[in-house]
Amino acid sequence: MAATACPRLLWLATGGTVAAAGRGIAYRAGALSPETLLEALPEAGRYAEIEFAAPYAIDSKDATPQHWLRLHTAITEALARPEFAGLVVSHGTDTLEETATLLALTLAPTKPVVLTGAMRPPSEAGADGPRNLLHAIRLAADADTPPGVFLVFGEEIFPALGLRKAHTLALQPFAAEPRGALGTTFPWLLPPIEERPSPLPIPPSWPRVALLAATALDAPEALRQAQETGAAAAVLLLPGHGSVPERWEAAIADATASGLLVVRASRCGQGPVLPHPVDERLGTLPAGILSAPAARVAAALLASFAAQERQTLWRARFLPFGGDV
Ligand code: SIN
Repeated sequence: MAATACPRLLWLATGGTVAAAGRGIAYRAGALSPETLLEALPEAGRYAEIEFAAPYAIDSKDATPQHWLRLHTAITEALARPEFAGLVVSHGTDTLEETATLLALTLAPTKPVVLTGAMRPPSEAGADGPRNLLHAIRLAADADTPPGVFLVFGEEIFPALGLRKAHTLALQPFAAEPRGALGTTFPWLLPPIEERPSPLPIPPSWPRVALLAATALDAPEALRQAQETGAAAAVLLLPGHGSVPERWEAAIADATASGLLVVRASRCGQGPVLPHPVDERLGTLPAGILSAPAARVAAALLASFAAQERQTLWRARFLPFGGDV
């Protein structure tokens, strides 16, 4: 810790298992207030004075763009308040990657914004929430932490972009493309963060982005149906490294030619989707470091951009390994 005075933090609680009542996997997410959670965490006072707000208290499977907007507004307001050195956001793990993607792409943080959560409810033996919260508080309060959006989980510090929940039960369910965690909380280690590009605007109304599986049982007509029912973009959940089945090619080429943004994502839990000659041929964009759910958020933010600008932004932000095959 570089600071001597106790920094002030705002903790925005949004629900999740970290604040759940109950045990096992049949618990009620978001049932406990941040005040209650903090009472069980007296060590937090060594690092920060903490104020609370609870924009909502949900199981993150129920999150909607309205929840995202409420959180985005609460964070933007808090970033403008000079008394706060940083923010902690407690969140359910199930859709944390979508929220993290949105915040990473649309905020211009001047302070650390640290997301965290838990895989086990507080009353469960071996609950991970208290430790994750403590580490998030410590990272947000540390004067050496650069501005940016981070996730602290299971003693690791992750970037918000490229994040994915890759395991249903493990105490470290998160992974990140392309290089994994930025650092660890034991020892306390965070390498310098690259400069952040300018934030994207939140659309006034959220465009429809279809998520389409392309297994043996799925028909490529789904793409046309998505377009006919008003989708502005489609994310394809493809096998392997985003491999397009031949029978889908014509439908994809037709869809992109008529203006649909089509992203090739992978149904594999981990690994990037690299640019491929098929993108040139079919007019698709590879998901790059984004998981399929995160690619949906990115596609929704970029759907209204002109095709050329969209392509440039997408390549710059999500394909950090370069555009060459
Ligand atoms: C949720 O996502 O709100 C419930 C599951 C979790 O936090 O791990």
